[in-house]
Amino acid sequence: MTADPLEIYLEAGDLERGLRDDVRAGLSAGQKWLPPKWFYDARGSELFEEITRLPEYYPTRAERAVLAERAPAIAALTRAKTLIELGSGSSEKTRLLLDAFARHGGLGTFVPLDVSVSALTSSTAQIAADYPRLRVRGIVGDFTRQLDRLPTGGRRLVAFLGGTIGNLLPAERSGFLTAMRGALEVGDWLLLGTDLVKDPAVIVPAYDDAAGVTAEFNRNVLRVINRELGADFDPEAFAHVARWDPAHEWIEMRLRATRSMRVRVLDLTVDFAAGEELRTEVSAKFRPAGIAQELATAGFTTAEFWTDPDGLFGVTLARAR
Ligand code: SAH
Ligand code: TRP
Repeated sequence: MTADPLEIYLEAGDLERGLRDDVRAGLSAGQKWLPPKWFYDARGSELFEEITRLPEYYPTRAERAVLAERAPAIAALTRAKTLIELGSGSSEKTRLLLDAFARHGGLGTFVPLDVSVSALTSSTAQIAADYPRLRVRGIVGDFTRQLDRLPTGGRRLVAFLGGTIGNLLPAERSGFLTAMRGALEVGDWLLLGTDLVKDPAVIVPAYDDAAGVTAEFNRNVLRVINRELGADFDPEAFAHVARWDPAHEWIEMRLRATRSMRVRVLDLTVDFAAGEELRTEVSAKFRPAGIAQELATAGFTTAEFWTDPDGLFGVTLARAR
């Protein structure tokens, strides 16, 4: 079977407008920043897949261990007709869920949603080929803006894996969970993957690997801006920084200017002092009680909370009430 043609919630023009607005706001701020969704062009999506295979990057392996053990229970408890996956990327781990649903019966449609057209194009083709009984409807969209348009009908399970919820800032995160609840009917399900608070000596190397793949990934956002907006960043002049922030319990990814620089982008002239840092991403780590609390506030009841055997990563199954 082949996948349905990709459904486009975000046109190329919307993407470029969004990038322009974010670049304008972020690079003219006192503390410069950029939002993380712009990492993921074709090259960025490939680099992320490479990150998931690094020895230091434990979240993917830990979450896969949870799903391998619990997928049958997830299929049996939810009896979902439609599985929607937000920020689906390659959907590699999601196959564990699709396999469990295939044995259980009843799942008719898989709906991966991502901003990355390249990731969706290959994941939908491969999944449609490997799961011929499943309807595969890929959506190019932004999960911070377009949850109100998710497909309806039949009991739904929304999976949001990879700890990607930790890439939202706290206010964005509560907005996201509230919008998510608003998009669901009572009785629909949410499967949420969250990386857990642990010794920073374990967390930091996952975001600053010895091979330098994460550094390349981080700098890729500058390449995207050069290409899409005609900017003249010198990506090699920026050093990758990953720093644990104990007050927020998040990892902060930054790009540090190794010399003073003047960059032209859009109609802006952006000056960097030597040593100045541009924040490109946070990756928040969670505590079990905090996750349940945030979900409850948004209108979800936690049904199950599982971790891998080493307690590195948490997966919550929650229900809209
Ligand atoms: N779920 C996969 C990929 C995680 S990486 C895993 O667990 O391995 C984060 C993914 O979210 C990337 O594929 C990226 O393209 C996508 N993404 C990031 N911001 C997004 C946004 N605002 N809307 C939709 N997708 C987004
Ligand atoms: N969702 C992933 C995470 O927070 C994304 C990610 C992994 C990431 N490594 C990164 C983002 C490095 C930016 C830089 O773990």
